Amino acid sequence: MAAIRIANLLKSGQPGDSVTLQGWVRTKRAQKSLCFINVNDGSCMGGLQIVADADLADYDAIMAQLSTGASVEIVGTVVESPAKGQRIEVKAEQITVFGGADETYPLQKKRHSFEFLRTLGHLRSRTNTLGAVFRVRNVAAQAVHQFFRDRAFMWVNTPILTASDCEGAGEMFTVTNLNLNQPPLVDNQAVDLAQDFFGKPAYLTVSGQLEAEIMAMAFTNVYTFGPTFRAENSNTSRHLAEFWMIEPEMAFCDLLGNMELAEEFLKYIFQTVLEQCADDMAFFNQRIDDSVLATADNIINNEFARITYTEAVDQLLKADKKFEFPVEWGIDLQSEHERYLAEALFQKPVIVTDYPAAIKAFYMRLNDDQKTVAAMDVLAPKVGEIIGGSQREERLDVLETRIGEAGLPLDAYWWYLDLRRYGTVPHAGFGLGFERLIQFMTGMTNIRDVIPFPRTPDNIEF
Ligand code: 4AD
Ligand code: MG
Repeated sequence: MAAIRIANLLKSGQPGDSVTLQGWVRTKRAQKSLCFINVNDGSCMGGLQIVADADLADYDAIMAQLSTGASVEIVGTVVESPAKGQRIEVKAEQITVFGGADETYPLQKKRHSFEFLRTLGHLRSRTNTLGAVFRVRNVAAQAVHQFFRDRAFMWVNTPILTASDCEGAGEMFTVTNLNLNQPPLVDNQAVDLAQDFFGKPAYLTVSGQLEAEIMAMAFTNVYTFGPTFRAENSNTSRHLAEFWMIEPEMAFCDLLGNMELAEEFLKYIFQTVLEQCADDMAFFNQRIDDSVLATADNIINNEFARITYTEAVDQLLKADKKFEFPVEWGIDLQSEHERYLAEALFQKPVIVTDYPAAIKAFYMRLNDDQKTVAAMDVLAPKVGEIIGGSQREERLDVLETRIGEAGLPLDAYWWYLDLRRYGTVPHAGFGLGFERLIQFMTGMTNIRDVIPFPRTPDNIEF
């Protein structure tokens, strides 16, 4: 008999059904003549209660092996549960232990700190909280694809290995297959990158945007959803060296259209996760952050606030709050400023637009004031920036000037400039940091706990 997943069984199992199920033991409670075993297979938060009678074949031998962490297969019959809080349980007729787990198994019943669990990257997914996080993550990822498919956006795969720095911020990891102990040298000095794998410097991508723009110039509306890499040495609760980004890119679209899509998109993902992960979301609300459900409701039912950078700076100057980092027009907004805007001023996500050109990337479209660019950041309460985007500079001459001003080499961007030579159009897009979104949805405070295998400075064990 094929095994049934526990989520399905808990939902639709009926007393009398014969079932086979598989999973890992969470708890075992032995009484004189019977034993209660809670089994979880990752399909849902709640495990299934198994009741094993002492008259079961090999009862003592099985019970000796069957402890927290062991993997089991149970063949049995569904019965109504007399216990509170569960509709059904399964009376075991046959129990097979695939692998035991002795008392060194680190996830015994007590609650562990997330910090401790990070040292157990290979086991922590078996805990309630991380299990819930990764189920939410999965549903959110599927919702991303569904959202774009419903709107006829093409999913395009942009490269992970690249020669260009999309953000121009110099935060790239170098990729090489040279022997680092004995690299070939030019004139006995600098490393001869002409002899490297690609014949020139290569990196891990920080963003798929530039290639997404290429594809949008052929398919109109596209998006990427893939890993991106940043070698910024910031040990914060919101930064990873490897994170997943969703980047829609739309031809014939301006900043307003871009903002509309971003808002619609976030609402859709929240709505879908609330519907499909109701138990997990209730768990986060109860155990992690009691504003999780109210936040979701707020996102779905309210319009995001919109404010220009210049207005935002005015508001920050007027605020009766002393900021650590002083405010003046031209500064990059710091986390404390972003949080003031989203948490204190608006109490909901706020889209800040039209930032000073000098603090934003070269590809953002220069506004008529010649000082600001058609940029947009979506700032969320508690997490700060979750989306960064812009209308793109579609005018060849202006773009060339901006690349020069950014101190970037024009020739490296020849193909990007060609898009402005041949059939250029107004276009726009944004990047959503997938882990920041999951943080925002679940209330998890550390970004290392919303990706299965976080990469941060000095951390690449699992
Ligand atoms: O604002 P960013 O740098 O924008 C871009 O990369 C654009 N090329 C996107 C585009 O327009 N297509 O990054 C976008 C988002 C941020 O808002 C943030 O949510 C996330 O990516 N992000 C990070 N998430 C985790 N760890 C990091 N180190 C991150 N850096 C950015
Ligand atoms: Mg940004």
